Amino acid sequence: MSVLEVRNVWKSFGDNTVLKGVDLTLNEHDVVVLIGASGSGKSTLLRTINLIERIDDGQLILSGDDISEPSVNADKVRSRIGVVFQQFNLFPHMRVIDNVTLAARKVHGENAASARERAVTLLEKFGLGEKVHDYPDRLSGGQQQRVAIVRAILTNPELLLLDEITSALDPMLVGEVLDLVKGLKDSGSTILMATHEMNFAREVADRVVFMHGGRIVEAGSPEQIFDAPVREETREFLARVGRH
Ligand SMILES: Nc1ncnc2c1ncn2[C@@H]1O[C@H](COP(=O)(O)OP(=O)(O)OP(=O)(O)O)[C@@H](O)[C@H]1O
Ligand SMILES: [Mg+2]
Repeated sequence: MSVLEVRNVWKSFGDNTVLKGVDLTLNEHDVVVLIGASGSGKSTLLRTINLIERIDDGQLILSGDDISEPSVNADKVRSRIGVVFQQFNLFPHMRVIDNVTLAARKVHGENAASARERAVTLLEKFGLGEKVHDYPDRLSGGQQQRVAIVRAILTNPELLLLDEITSALDPMLVGEVLDLVKGLKDSGSTILMATHEMNFAREVADRVVFMHGGRIVEAGSPEQIFDAPVREETREFLARVGRH
């Protein structure tokens, strides 16, 4: 069974049709990277999967469950998906450990001691062992973003959605966040991410998906998309970002 199936998904904002029949399947352990110009619909697609935006037509299937049914419990669906967006959204008044364990404790009902133990192990693994008891404003942007990722994975989500998680970072700090994502890939996470970091897309993606005007125009291995793009729109985009 696939982890995620996006079937002919349509989404408009007023008369602006932003997703025009998107089809996409992620199997377990797939790392799929969305690329495309600003406004092509990458974030909107990620937001529809997390039910922040409801789709107009089509279907979203998460591990066999139709999550696009109007009657679905959105909070329940979100508890199965880990999400990290561009802006660090840690709670400023909570220490790192409490930020990271909040969902495990409050949403999944895990007892505090066990959640803390797992959180500390993960924070140490990702070089944040010294920061466990700090408040977010004492951390660099890269450290905050790594904490946000640890928070997203602590509950073992079926699917991880990452939207431009490095684009608000000082270039010096991008590498440490991307290394963490590589670590997640190696440990078998299923990841759908949007990025403007083409080098990273090439390095980490099992499949690169190029979006243009709300459609998936071309998808394939990093080699196919970056070295031998077939569609004119893909070539133009890659030329513009200096990749082809
Ligand atoms: N909540 C909203 N209300 C109205 N229009 C929206 C909303 N969210 C997105 N849009 C529009 O949808 C289109 C696609 O935006 P989206 O954010 O999905 O693009 P993107 O591919 O993520 O771009 P970027 O690379 O800049 O992040 C844009 O025209 C945008 O203005
Ligand atoms: Mg976006």
